[in-house]
Amino acid sequence: MFSLSQRIQTLSNQALTFACFIFVFVIATSWLQLIQQHAFMTPSSIDNIKTSINLRTSRYYGSMNGKPKENSKILFDLNTDLSPLFNWNTKQVFVYLTGEYEGQLRPQTKSEVTYWDKIITKGDNAKLQLKNVRSKYAVWDLEEVFVGRELTFKLKWNIQPWIGPLIYGEANGNKTITITSGKPANVKNEKKSSA
Ligand SMILES: *[C@@H]1O[C@H](CO)[C@@H](O)[C@H](O)[C@H]1NC(C)=O
Repeated sequence: MFSLSQRIQTLSNQALTFACFIFVFVIATSWLQLIQQHAFMTPSSIDNIKTSINLRTSRYYGSMNGKPKENSKILFDLNTDLSPLFNWNTKQVFVYLTGEYEGQLRPQTKSEVTYWDKIITKGDNAKLQLKNVRSKYAVWDLEEVFVGRELTFKLKWNIQPWIGPLIYGEANGNKTITITSGKPANVKNEKKSSA
């Protein structure tokens, strides 16, 4: 009744269905494991943030037409343990420290900048205890001014699994800081009183 090609087709359809089933099973169980390990509720503390501003005129630092651009850098402490993000299906974890703020030109729209990031490939290395660490990146805004902005710092992560799509999340705990120029005396053109 059945021709050979029909048989092969039925078999390969079954194989495909089976592979899909395994795929979904792997993704679902590794997700469940992450939830059981409270991966999505990992606490983090971001402390001791010190901000500084550099004026850069290079276009590699966001300057346009040689107009000085305020570049923001920070020093920070970070304490967290991301080992709950690791299980048999975790290839590596990309973790990054962001600052979120509302734009001045378009309030209500959130902007996000990334100051620091790290790739963790082993659960053994997932405990981060950083002190007075320098941001990796200088960040700037599309608008001229960065000083005076209120940034909410958060530690975000994504898991790159062996099988399945990227999984995004963020650690619990944030810190809101106003960016200052970071210069010793933040006083412009202070006039000496001539008594
Ligand atoms: C910051 O954390 C607090 C809890 O500590 C939370 O209520 C608040 O929504 C968080 N803020 C943001 C912008 O995520």
